[in-house]
Amino acid sequence: MLEAEGLYKSYRMGEAEVSVLKGLDLEVNRGEFLAIVGASGSGKSTLLHILGALDRPDKGVVRFEGRELSRMTYGELNRFRNKMVGFVFQFYHLLDELSVLENVFLPAMAGRSTFGWLSCRRWAKRRGMELLSRLGLSDRAEHKPYQLSGGERQRVAIGRALMNEPQLLLADEPTGNLDSATGNAILKIFEELNTAGQTIVMVSHDERIGQKAGRIITLADGRIEQKNTSG
Ligand SMILES: Nc1ncnc2c1ncn2[C@@H]1O[C@H](COP(=O)(O)OP(=O)(O)O)[C@@H](O)[C@H]1O
Ligand SMILES: [Mg+2]
Repeated sequence: MLEAEGLYKSYRMGEAEVSVLKGLDLEVNRGEFLAIVGASGSGKSTLLHILGALDRPDKGVVRFEGRELSRMTYGELNRFRNKMVGFVFQFYHLLDELSVLENVFLPAMAGRSTFGWLSCRRWAKRRGMELLSRLGLSDRAEHKPYQLSGGERQRVAIGRALMNEPQLLLADEPTGNLDSATGNAILKIFEELNTAGQTIVMVSHDERIGQKAGRIITLADGRIEQKNTSG
């Protein structure tokens, strides 16, 4: 489904240049739950942002369903970001001015005209409520994010990521800010989503968290170290 080949990325900090990705190759298969584990600072967020077209590599290609992201037009890239991938972040990134339900259906508004939005608003609210109910948050729809616990906020963020039925769910340390019981509940949601067919790529600095995934690989020194080479 997703393929990265020879990715390079470095950041310039004044005089110094920090090489983060150094010729990284990666393949994500449709339907899999892939965990990428690596130390803090190893480039996990950088990689995930590149895979989700939130950032560009200095060199190398990312292909989604065989199509190179770097060759997509501006409109195609926006569609890719908004419709094909869903993002879950460590610190939720919810909008506190909006209700929980509004946060969840926000991605359905993106890229639509006012008229387009008005004509799908009822559908979007219904889908938002369905997602909240699946995530055990029906009774929180009208709350504001700051009124929720960390685990509840992350479930809202998962709902938002799923709103547009993305082909690929990208999660950046989704349990990193949660206690272990709450984190496990989030991982269980990912497992259930994956069982239902959702392709997931999750990065974490914590190897134990990767155990729930179908495949674990390690990011070190700017490349992927293949761990489970049998098969
Ligand atoms: N925008 C940036 N500017 C400069 N350096 C950055 C930037 N983003 C990340 N880095 C550096 O790149 C390295 C990898 O960062 P990151 O991808 O966030 O790692 P991880 O998510 O694995 O902790 C770190 O050393 C970090 O300081
Ligand atoms: Mg990170």
